[in-house]
Amino acid sequence: MAGGLVFAVLAAACLCSCRAQRWISGGDDQDGTALRDIPACDSPVYCYGALLNAVQSTRVFKDSKTFVDMSMKSSPEDILGAFDNMRARGQDIRSREVMRRFVSQWFSGPGAELEDWEPSDWQERPAFLNGIRDESYREWAEDLHGLWKKLSKRVSRDVRDYPERHSSMYVPYPFIIPGGEHREMQYWDTYWTVRGLLLSNMLETVQGILENFAEMVQRFGYVPGGGRVYQSKRSGPPLLIPTVLEYLEHSNDITLIRSLLPTLEREYDFWMNNRTVDIRGSDGSMHTLNRYHVLVGQSRPEAWRLDERTARSLQRGADPADFHSHVATAVESGWEFSSRWLADVGPQARTLASIRTRNIVPVDLNAMMCLNEVALSRIYQRAGDRRKAGYYNNAAARRRVAMDKVLWSERRGAWFDYDLQAEGRRDRFYVSNIWPLWAKCYGNGMGDANVEARVLSYLKQYTDVLNYTGGVPASLQESGQAWDYPYGTAPNHFVLIEALSVSQLTEAKNAALNLTRKWLESNYRDWVHTGAMWDTYNVITRRRPRNSDEEVKDGYGWTNGVALHLLDKYGNLLKAPDVSGSRDNHVPTALLLIACLVSVLLTKL
Ligand SMILES: *[C@@H]1O[C@H](CO)[C@@H](O)[C@H](O)[C@H]1NC(C)=O
Ligand SMILES: *[C@@H]1O[C@H](CO)[C@@H](O)[C@H](O)[C@H]1NC(C)=O
Ligand SMILES: *[C@@H]1O[C@H](CO)[C@@H](O)[C@H](O)[C@H]1NC(C)=O
Repeated sequence: MAGGLVFAVLAAACLCSCRAQRWISGGDDQDGTALRDIPACDSPVYCYGALLNAVQSTRVFKDSKTFVDMSMKSSPEDILGAFDNMRARGQDIRSREVMRRFVSQWFSGPGAELEDWEPSDWQERPAFLNGIRDESYREWAEDLHGLWKKLSKRVSRDVRDYPERHSSMYVPYPFIIPGGEHREMQYWDTYWTVRGLLLSNMLETVQGILENFAEMVQRFGYVPGGGRVYQSKRSGPPLLIPTVLEYLEHSNDITLIRSLLPTLEREYDFWMNNRTVDIRGSDGSMHTLNRYHVLVGQSRPEAWRLDERTARSLQRGADPADFHSHVATAVESGWEFSSRWLADVGPQARTLASIRTRNIVPVDLNAMMCLNEVALSRIYQRAGDRRKAGYYNNAAARRRVAMDKVLWSERRGAWFDYDLQAEGRRDRFYVSNIWPLWAKCYGNGMGDANVEARVLSYLKQYTDVLNYTGGVPASLQESGQAWDYPYGTAPNHFVLIEALSVSQLTEAKNAALNLTRKWLESNYRDWVHTGAMWDTYNVITRRRPRNSDEEVKDGYGWTNGVALHLLDKYGNLLKAPDVSGSRDNHVPTALLLIACLVSVLLTKL
């Protein structure tokens, strides 16, 4: 008897410590495959192997993404065979010239498998433009509406017939790409793109986008982070279900939604089965919350050089596979990269080498899960399934309690990411800290006005982040990463503005309007300078980040979607800033004039 008891206690202790160990060390995948043996995808050309290593390490292209976005001119077997032959013949695969010739012989692109597509539901001058009073802003909105035509793409037949020759996944309907180097659909970007498309009244395009997502969920069991194979083992911030609800409320198309419902549940189940963790809350009981968690143990093909370099810099004893998994997890979070995921202490603190994303339970993810639960409940209600509507309503109620007990700080008046290793909240400012206000994911007698007042005073007094000229920075940490000070992005501005604008407090409403003015001014000024929209802006200089590609490109899906939304929302109150005479091309023009003068003088002499 006693022996049995001791054994049971030991076994239980062992199980517990194994569970705890899993997220600390990474360890093995569910099937016992070692993490280091899991590449970003199963393609021996795009995701792992000697050819990939040779092309990337010889720097055939100036970034790592170009190569893995190219299409093969022959089968992977032919190409890998040719590569082996070349090596066997004694050609030096460490030579950039040799690899450059090989790539141009066997690959085309990048992006050659994407065809331009003119959306059939695109119309000149959609109705919302009439509500924008300021003429410059109205013309700008019209230009942004025009960009949908440039950003619409369709995957070619060749991808359907020979999927192994392309990194693009096959999907049947056209879609919108963010633009720039993002020449593929991106999962969470699509929520804001769709918000914009709905204003442009492009319902058919949105339907196709939703059907593409459904197809992906059927194939993978979740929505991959984006439309290329190297994004297939990770997902992205879960916004498919809220996107579907937006479409439903705009179109009343319950028929399409009914057909999508099994897919939506599968997407939700993935997050609840594969991305949760149990935490003890301030009330002493256990609560289930979500985290990002990607089990890939090798370099990202599209950022191969950065990952290899950082993995080599890890301190002795650190596991490179574990590092790669935390990196892939950060990409799944959408915040790539941010001090949110970096260690504060230790020899490599605050550098990418210290990344530990899997150990963090993020506020914004859980706010999104709450939105998913509320959205599913509403959609089921519309579809007439009261039992399921009730089920998801209860799930949202449980989530609110968990958020209150684990992530909410009564002292500071905001929510904070939870650190599983330190077993406590990380109390620094990140814009993600206020996402639950947008999702209305709080409860337990915390009335709306009360929470709004607390959060507003957190924003104002505790961090003063509302005072920057160009918007709100993602954080107050100057780490050099894109999701930190002094950079801001469209999704965070959208969420903050939406949350504050529906408040009952006049001050919060004013703050939302002020923030709209600042953010749109940043977008607009840089648009006038560069003729492009960007994924990120510096909220001090009100320009794109200095390190972004200088080449002017079409873009940028989510920034356009949010700008259109805000121009529509506040159309009668906004006034475009005067930016005349500040175009960038004045400098080149002046230089050209001087060069002309000099050459004229020289020929005269
Ligand atoms: C989720 O986790 C289970 C095991 O816990 C695994 O069998 C399944 O493949 C995972 N699902 C996905 C879609 O990764
Ligand atoms: C900072 O923002 C507050 C509103 O939150 C405003 O009252 C104050 O004037 C601002 N201060 C500066 C220096 O802009
Ligand atoms: C909004 O901006 C105005 C003018 O810059 C300022 O006076 C006011 O304090 C701001 N209000 C809030 C709530 O930020």
